[in-house]
Amino acid sequence: MSEQKIALVTGANKGIGYGIAAGLGALGYRVGVGARDESRREAAVEKLRAAGVDAFGVPLDVTDDQSVSAAAELLEQQAGRLDALVNNAGISGEFGPGWLQDPTTLDLGVVRTVVETNVIGVVRVTNALLPLLRRSASPRIVNISSSVGSLTRQADPNVDVGPIMAAYAPTKTFLNAVTVQYSRHFAGTNILINAACPGLVATDFTGRQGPRTPEQGAATAIRLATLPDGGPTGSFFEDAGVIPW
Ligand SMILES: NC(=O)c1ccc[n+]([C@@H]2O[C@H](COP(=O)([O-])OP(=O)(O)OC[C@H]3O[C@@H](n4cnc5c(N)ncnc54)[C@H](OP(=O)(O)O)[C@@H]3O)[C@@H](O)[C@H]2O)c1
Repeated sequence: MSEQKIALVTGANKGIGYGIAAGLGALGYRVGVGARDESRREAAVEKLRAAGVDAFGVPLDVTDDQSVSAAAELLEQQAGRLDALVNNAGISGEFGPGWLQDPTTLDLGVVRTVVETNVIGVVRVTNALLPLLRRSASPRIVNISSSVGSLTRQADPNVDVGPIMAAYAPTKTFLNAVTVQYSRHFAGTNILINAACPGLVATDFTGRQGPRTPEQGAATAIRLATLPDGGPTGSFFEDAGVIPW
């Protein structure tokens, strides 16, 4: 089997996901660019290849069982193994002025949609790809979370966690909790799974607002996707270190 490591990044056609794909590619990984839109996916693959990355497209909508099964099948054929899975695809759900999602007037359809992508999508993709990850000598899973999902920070009046986002923020808290459940299940194995916060990054997600570039936002995820054996698992990181749950 090839010595070259294989990664899949979901939602890799733009933003932080693209930055993660580029960063892993620069480290020599062969990178599957998971993306649901064909033209955006192929454009990203071309751009990565032009930058010298060994990239290939993986059609992938994380909310769709058939799409995820087909992605697992494609990876089986293309690579036969997966060394790093980065669950990056995510949405905020609709919000009002100032990024506000008021809990007292929430559209429940929006809540369901955000949970379906940000949480259930991660479980769907992870479980579909676990057989391939288990074939790696050092499997790594990174779930892209957000510090706005930290209950500790939200409960601290001295910490500015930004606007109330009653649909989005709890999905990242939920994702963190799911990450811990996986880490408990993987205890004693070589599978390391962690959550990563990219910081506030200027992408389409934030309306291009934010002090950080996608490359900067990708850094913690790349570190966690390439952890050495015996590295941390079941934890939540940003560039500065561990984020409290
Ligand atoms: N930007 C920030 O400041 C920030 C801060 C904390 C955490 N995050 C997290 O970082 C991750 C990436 O955010 P970003 O800022 O890079 O956002 P972005 O530029 O909007 O990119 C999001 C990516 O996710 C994809 N995606 C959304 N729904 C999908 C689905 N059902 N199936 C497959 N792909 C899907 C998008 O694909 P399409 O192009 O097809 O829509 C796109 O590739 C998210 O999980 C977000 O919650 C971002």
